[in-house]
Parts: sequence; structure tokens; C-alpha cells
Amino acid sequence: MKRYKIASIPADGIGPEVIAAGLQALNALAVRDGGFELDVTDFDWGSDRYKRTGALMPDDGIEQLKAFDAIFFGAVGAPDVPDHVSLWGLRLPICQGFDQYANVRPTRILPGIKAPLADVGPGDLDWVIVRENSEGEYAGMGGRAHRGLPEEVGTEVAIFTRTGVTRIMRYAFKLAQLRPRKFLTVVTKSNAQRHGMVMWDEIADEVSHEFPNVTWDKMLVDAMTARMVKDPQSLDTIVATNLHADILSDLAGALAGSLGVAPTANIDPGRRFPSMFEPIHGSAFDIAGQGIANPVATFWTAAQMLEHIGEGDAAARLMLAVEKTCEARVMTPDIGGTASTQEVTDAVCEMIRSSNIL
Ligand code: IPM
Ligand code: MG
Repeated sequence: MKRYKIASIPADGIGPEVIAAGLQALNALAVRDGGFELDVTDFDWGSDRYKRTGALMPDDGIEQLKAFDAIFFGAVGAPDVPDHVSLWGLRLPICQGFDQYANVRPTRILPGIKAPLADVGPGDLDWVIVRENSEGEYAGMGGRAHRGLPEEVGTEVAIFTRTGVTRIMRYAFKLAQLRPRKFLTVVTKSNAQRHGMVMWDEIADEVSHEFPNVTWDKMLVDAMTARMVKDPQSLDTIVATNLHADILSDLAGALAGSLGVAPTANIDPGRRFPSMFEPIHGSAFDIAGQGIANPVATFWTAAQMLEHIGEGDAAARLMLAVEKTCEARVMTPDIGGTASTQEVTDAVCEMIRSSNIL
């Protein structure tokens, strides 16, 4: 039997609630499948640990995670800890320390979910956004001088390297090639940003020659937002910088009906290090502890994790169970239902156990 070592970091707000839900679904799959086992180790890292000890994770945190096959991550961020502290104290050190340079964000309108665009339903919107996840606007470059004085300056420098852009472009073309439409849209802002963004366009063109059967086009990020709203059927795989894709993926989540269902995978395609899987929605302290957090994004990212570790059948089974549960309208209030986190989880687990599916 295959045995995978999973590091679970539920962290803040609704993180622990959705990760608990995700682990129940993963266990149901492991039992039903019989072919694999998950050996889950729980880490209490996050904002509470920061308030207790001054650090979100221990100094050797990255070292501790190295031995795992994957990281299952909840959400980080607390109302009484500055956002840049929690982000740079836990999630970004993991993404950057493990060179998880491809951030993969699939978006689809799940059955039963009411999406905001008229006449756009399941099947009309089926995208994967590939977000550059190691550099760009999140490189942490820049600084402040003359603090508090009238002449204070702050710089925020985006870093684009030929290596970084080439590898994310190859990842995106390869992913586009695996999808039925074999179609990629490369997003930049190369009219106004005339250095790094023009390099993106040039590298996209170079890499495209390695993938002659992938059709591709280019969009400026502002026009891209309009296209996503007006012509969602015209898009399939999308690649963009760290910040542009951050913004586009929120729009994508909203157009699919809710950020509560949107997953993300932080992947090290070279598999030198564990990759990290998390829901996009964040810690949502306003609903924490009420038992109504939507577990669907976590189920979806759990499916991405299964896919990554090589359990593709279990991943497909989990997504089918999630779709059938949504279709039956067993859903949490954020997407118009009345069910609790546990009720949705029970329905998904029941569906996994039922012999009718896959
Ligand atoms: C995301 C989030 C994060 C990001 C926040 C929490 C810093 O918005 O995963 O999209 O911008 O990367
Ligand atoms: Mg975001």
C-alpha cells in the first residue's frame, strides 16, 4: 500500500474547520480506495503561535516540512496581527523556500451554484489560471527611506528573471497542452510596463515554439478583466504575473459564484520539495467558529493534492462527489444553502463511500 506523508497546517480563522473537513474526505477516499494511506502530521503554526512566541513558525520550520510529500494548508491572517507579518511569516517563506513557483488556480462553475453572469452556467466558464509564484511583484524587493519625514520614499520593485519567466511559461504551455482546447492566454501590461513585461511577451513567443499544437494569444491585464466578464467562453488556460494573477483569480472566483469554492496549488514542478495546497478564501474571522465555513475549496485543493502525489482516480472521485453534493444543493450559506460545514462534509463522504460513483 502506498503511504503519503502529509503536513497539515490549519493555522488561522476558519482554517482549522476547513482542514478538518478536508481530512475527513481524504480519509474516506483512502478507505474506499484501499490503495493508499495518508500519514498526517499536524502543525500548530499560525497567528496564535506568533502571539505566544513572536514567530508564526519555528526557525527550522522549512527544514521540518522537507520530509513530507505534500502540505495541506488552511489559511493565515488574524485581525490583531498585521497582514504583511502573517503572510511573510508563514505562507510566503514556504512558497519561496520550496520554490513552489507555479500557483495553479482552476475555476469552474460547479453544478447547483448560481454564478453572477447572465446566461453563463457550468461548462461556459472552465479556466485554469497559472500564477507565477516566486518573484515578480512579490519578490519583497524595495524599501523605505526618510521614514515619517515629508521626503519619505517607498519603493516596491518587481523582479522578473529570464529563468523565472521561462519556467512558468513552459509550465503554462504544458498545462494548456494537456487540456482539451490546448489554448493559452498570456497576460501582461507590456504597453505601460516596458521592461519586465516586454520580456514576458518575448519569452512567451520563444517558448510557444516548443508547443506547436498550443494556440495562444496575448492580453493586457486591464482588457483581460473585461474579456473574463464579457466573453468567458473564449478563455481556457491563463498565465500571468504574481500580482496580475492574484487579482484575476479573485475575479475568476467571483464569476464562478464564490471565492468559497476556489482552490489553489503551490507547486514545485521539479518535485525537489513538497508542494502546498490551500483554499484561496483566507481566514474569514467573521464566520470563524460558527461551523458554516464552506469546505468545497478545501475539497477541491485536496483533489489537486491527490492528483499531484499520483492518486488521480481518488482526485476524480472527490471532485465528482463534490459536484454531486453541490448539485443536490447541500451547500453552505455563502453559496445560498443552509447546510453546515459538517453537513456538507458528511454528504461528500457519503457520496465517496457510495458505490454509484466512479
Ligand atoms: C491569494 C491571497 C494572498 C496573495 C494574500 C493573502 C496575501 O490573496 O492567495 O490570492 O495575495 O497571494
Ligand atoms: Mg488573492
